[in-house]
Amino acid sequence: MTADSNHHIEQLRAVGRIVRAAFEHMKAAAVPGITTAELDAIAARVFAERGARSAPQAMYNFPGATCISVNEQAAHGIPGRRRLQPGDMVNIDVSAELNGYIADMGESFVLAPVAPERARICRAVRHSVSAALRRVRAGRSLNVIGHAVQQVADRYGYRIVGNLASHGVGRSLHEEPSYVPLNNPRERRVLERGMVLTIEPFFTTDAEDVFEMDDGWTLTCSTGELVAQFEQTLIVTDGAPIIVTV
Ligand code: CO
Ligand code: CO
Repeated sequence: MTADSNHHIEQLRAVGRIVRAAFEHMKAAAVPGITTAELDAIAARVFAERGARSAPQAMYNFPGATCISVNEQAAHGIPGRRRLQPGDMVNIDVSAELNGYIADMGESFVLAPVAPERARICRAVRHSVSAALRRVRAGRSLNVIGHAVQQVADRYGYRIVGNLASHGVGRSLHEEPSYVPLNNPRERRVLERGMVLTIEPFFTTDAEDVFEMDDGWTLTCSTGELVAQFEQTLIVTDGAPIIVTV
C-alpha cells in the first residue's frame, strides 16, 4: 500500500504498537517449561483486548495467533505442546490487523544459558536490518535493502535464506513489492514515498533455502543449522523511514 496521509500513518502505527506489545509480552514469558501454545495465547489475549486480529490466522488460516519457531525451525512454526528448553533459540513472528491495516514484526532470541554462537547470529541479523533501514529512502533502488543485508551477512560469515524475504505489507500481509530479494544489482524497482514494507532477512550458518515440514506450515533448515530472523515494518519517506513496529 501507499501510506500517503497522516491517517494511514497513524493507523499503521496503531497496529504496529499492538504487534510490538504482543511480542514483548511473549518474549518476557518465554522461559524454559512454557509451551509454545501458552506463549501464543498471550498474543491472542493482547489482540482480543485491543480489537485486533492475528493476520496469518485471518488471511491464511494459520493454526495459531503467531508463528513460533524453535531451533531448527526457521519460520511459520505452529504453536503447540513443544516446551521451551534452556538455551533454545526462539523466533516469534507477530503480525496483526486493526481497522484493515496490518503490521508485521519478528525477532529471534536465545534463552539462558546463552550459547555465544546463537547470540552472535541473532545480533548479526538484527544489525543487518539496522544497516538496511539507514539506507531506505524514497527514490533509491529497492536493492539498497538486499545490498545492505548482504554486506552485514558477509562481514559475519553467514548465509541468507533466498526463499524468504522482505515484502510489502499494510493492507494485506504480503503485497507489492511482493518479494524483495537478495542483493540484485539488476533490481529496477524503486523505493517510493509512502511504500509500506517489511525488512525481514533470515541468516543461517549454511543453508540458502528452507523447506516445508510435514505439518504443511513449518519451514526448516537441515538439522544442526542455526537460523535467525529479524523483522520490522516501515514506511518509506524522503528522509529516515518511519518504523511502525518499534
Ligand atoms: Co513476520
Ligand atoms: Co513478514
